[in-house]
Amino acid sequence: MKKILMVCLGNICRSPMAEGIMRAKLERAGIAFELDSAGTGNYHIGEHPDHRAVKCMKSKGLDISYLRARQISARDLAHYDIIFTMDESNQKNVLALTNDDVEKQKVRMFLNELHPGKNVSVPDPWFGDEDGFFEVYELLDNAANAFVNHFADAKKKIDG
Ligand code: 4NP
Repeated sequence: MKKILMVCLGNICRSPMAEGIMRAKLERAGIAFELDSAGTGNYHIGEHPDHRAVKCMKSKGLDISYLRARQISARDLAHYDIIFTMDESNQKNVLALTNDDVEKQKVRMFLNELHPGKNVSVPDPWFGDEDGFFEVYELLDNAANAFVNHFADAKKKIDG
């Protein structure tokens, strides 16, 4: 079973949206997983996702209103297999928590699933308007499709 953690700064916009999108796709693909999200910052611990993120996701048929923000810890680096970061700042901050090369290899920018090696960031929608959340949704949805498709293909090769 794959253990996957989605990470942004506040854990109230991008990473809870990414969690909701990934959960729906992994379930649909019949992939066994453990999934959570966290923020590198501590500003919003215990809060539900931003109302604009909840509204955007609801319009796509996905409920993330129950989620609560938490901060990533060094323990997450040991526990999870893949840690997907939303932007270069998150990537740098998560890498700073790693203890060794095994943990470093787990930390990947999520949009590299779509654009390998390009290190493209998911823009932070916090300071913008509602449209920004729909733009974020499209990026996350495409990256999640790419990940689930790669994963299903790789699994097929291993399982034969
Ligand atoms: P997120 O968005 O990292 O996608 O959850 C943000 C939420 C809050 C803040 C920054 C980004 N903030 O500065 O409080």
